[in-house]
Amino acid sequence: MTVMVTGAAGQLGRELVRTYSGGDRLVSLDRVGLNVTDRAAVHAAVRSIQPSVIVNCAAWTDVDGCESDPDRAFLVHADAVCFLHEVANDIDAHVVQVSTDYVFDGLETVPYIETAGTNPLNVYGQSKKAGETLAGPLATVVRTSWLQPADAPGMVDRVLSGLSAREEVALPANRRACPTFVGDLAPVIWRLAEERVAGLVHATNGGVTSWYEFGRSVADAVGADPDQIVPSPIEKPDSRPAKRPPYSALDNSVLQVLGYPEIRDYRDAVAEAVARAVG
Ligand SMILES: NC(=O)c1ccc[n+]([C@@H]2O[C@H](COP(=O)([O-])OP(=O)(O)OC[C@H]3O[C@@H](n4cnc5c(N)ncnc54)[C@H](OP(=O)(O)O)[C@@H]3O)[C@@H](O)[C@H]2O)c1
Repeated sequence: MTVMVTGAAGQLGRELVRTYSGGDRLVSLDRVGLNVTDRAAVHAAVRSIQPSVIVNCAAWTDVDGCESDPDRAFLVHADAVCFLHEVANDIDAHVVQVSTDYVFDGLETVPYIETAGTNPLNVYGQSKKAGETLAGPLATVVRTSWLQPADAPGMVDRVLSGLSAREEVALPANRRACPTFVGDLAPVIWRLAEERVAGLVHATNGGVTSWYEFGRSVADAVGADPDQIVPSPIEKPDSRPAKRPPYSALDNSVLQVLGYPEIRDYRDAVAEAVARAVG
């Protein structure tokens, strides 16, 4: 059995590659190795590698950039998924497509379950939503949110450096979702891939929070004064090109029905990341 990861140089792709323990052949392809928007290259790569599983992590995650170049966003997030799906179908490879909480408009006040209606507010979300459909009915479509890297500075490190400089750390308090550490997400993706689970699956760390509260949890974990973390001034509605959903927490209901272990609370992951950073 051969497993192929595209977009393998990104924060999730790197963690998937690092943690793969299937014992089989893993082919990891960064953008230079395989540009997923090149249909002929995608077909040629998949036919030559003959994977049984393809995990597509390739994405253009610059949400404001997508707003100013919808063609590029749809090429990477929709057309490319179609290219992968059509050739995967030919060789009976299972596709895992990674998607986002930004498919929702954020008008809810309780976490979104997989069957909740979508209504993306920006081009990034619209193009990712199109990719969910183009992945085909047999693909696993894993929606996640607010990813935090395992091997590069993320929000925990940013807050820690502000705290150690005894500066005020201003973080947005007006949007709420579920921060997700790639180290907790990767094993879930590998299991879904192995079991060829079809359809939408929400997978995030537990706990719904804002970046402001997240920052305070970092201060708590390191024993600093949480009041060093302050809410940043509310952004004017049109201050950034892309609108963001004010509330995009996901409910991992399908994982629960499948009997997967609960993904730990983000505060436990924060505590571990803090211990690693200061230890
Ligand atoms: N980051 C988040 O907070 C977040 C939240 C929810 C969902 N997601 C989803 O999670 C998945 C992984 O995201 P991530 O945070 O790991 O993103 P990332 O760190 O930005 O990585 C994405 C990778 O895709 C590569 N890529 C871009 N265009 C490509 C192309 N045409 N062909 C091949 N590779 C290409 C990028 O390469 P270059 O750097 O060279 O462009 C980058 O290495 C994506 O599907 C994303 O939509 C992310």
